[in-house]
Amino acid sequence: MHALVVYFSRFGNTRQVAEAVAATLGTAGSVRVLSMDQLTVSDMRNVDLVVMGAPTHRMSLPKEVGPVFKTLPKHILRGIPVAAFDTSYKMSALLARFTAAKKLTGKLRKLEGKQIVPPETFHVVGREGPLYDGEIERAREWAGLILKRSEAQSPLRTRGNTP
Ligand SMILES: Cc1cc2nc3c(=O)[nH]c(=O)nc-3n(C[C@H](O)[C@H](O)[C@H](O)COP(=O)(O)O)c2cc1C
Repeated sequence: MHALVVYFSRFGNTRQVAEAVAATLGTAGSVRVLSMDQLTVSDMRNVDLVVMGAPTHRMSLPKEVGPVFKTLPKHILRGIPVAAFDTSYKMSALLARFTAAKKLTGKLRKLEGKQIVPPETFHVVGREGPLYDGEIERAREWAGLILKRSEAQSPLRTRGNTP
């Protein structure tokens, strides 16, 4: 399995979550971790799984993220399992409905990716972090669920039965 983990991070917290997710995905195959500004169209080709993460800014995606998607061809993730996460403050149930992870999921689906897990949020204590205790472990668990679901999507390929 070739997994790609892409993140945007201003203060490093989302990057930490991305790296924890990548470490777990790496137990099942190869994984590349890229920041959004490094991402090119060719990075999105020939991948079996794409996970993206960004911090929630103003109840949405950071302004730097939108332009990245404008560079990507429409169908580039057709049928590819995708998952998205964000980092944010702990919010009231009402405000917690507006997350970068939900917006990212929408964008990945627009590229025709196949959502395999609900969007997930990992919490920071303050604007610059740190992450709450236990969030890195929770990120590893979430990545474990992604692995299980992506194996269910393409059992032959991940079991190594294809030529
Ligand atoms: C401009 C800006 C706007 C933000 N708006 C929100 C917000 O609407 N809701 C929220 O929960 N956190 C908000 N935050 C806090 C970020 O989610 C927090 O800085 C982020 O999780 C840290 O991730 P990073 O270290 O990867 O940048 C905001 C932070 C910044 C800098």
